[in-house]
Amino acid sequence: MTRVRLCFVCLGNICRSPTAAGLMRHHVRLAGLEEAVEIESAGTGSWHVGGPPDRRALAEACRRGVELDHRARQFVATDFARFDLVLAMDHANVADLLALAPDADAAAKVRLLRSFDPAADGDLAVPDPYYEGGFAHVFDLLDAACRGLLETLAPGFGRS
Ligand code: 4NP
Repeated sequence: MTRVRLCFVCLGNICRSPTAAGLMRHHVRLAGLEEAVEIESAGTGSWHVGGPPDRRALAEACRRGVELDHRARQFVATDFARFDLVLAMDHANVADLLALAPDADAAAKVRLLRSFDPAADGDLAVPDPYYEGGFAHVFDLLDAACRGLLETLAPGFGRS
């Protein structure tokens, strides 16, 4: 496969997108594809910039054997040039990213992450767990979507 650069994006960059990036790194490492996939995450908001992942996201990832090593940062318009796919968690993230996109090529990079989960149906949003909780469920949704994404990028590798 050709090298691909991924950026996972949520609102705060402390719950969903750092978890998705950690999970994707985990699956990519298991598949032996570290050299082929670049993985980052960012938030559309700036409140948590420089901070670590939410302790509930850290606890869930730790429980599942996935490492999260990240400091929050905000997605900026120039990031579009640095990534091939910009993977949004929910519809508000998509709208915020499209508003930032400098041109049609940039806008075409924006996808809902769960659109890569072949079993997903209905609303393809990953719910925001910051106020409502549900970190285990969010982790499950992100895991299925990341496996589906890897399978799309490298057929045969997303099933392990
Ligand atoms: P995330 O969750 O977008 O999955 O990182 C949130 C984190 C913080 C806030 C909202 C959502 N906040 O309002 O501070």
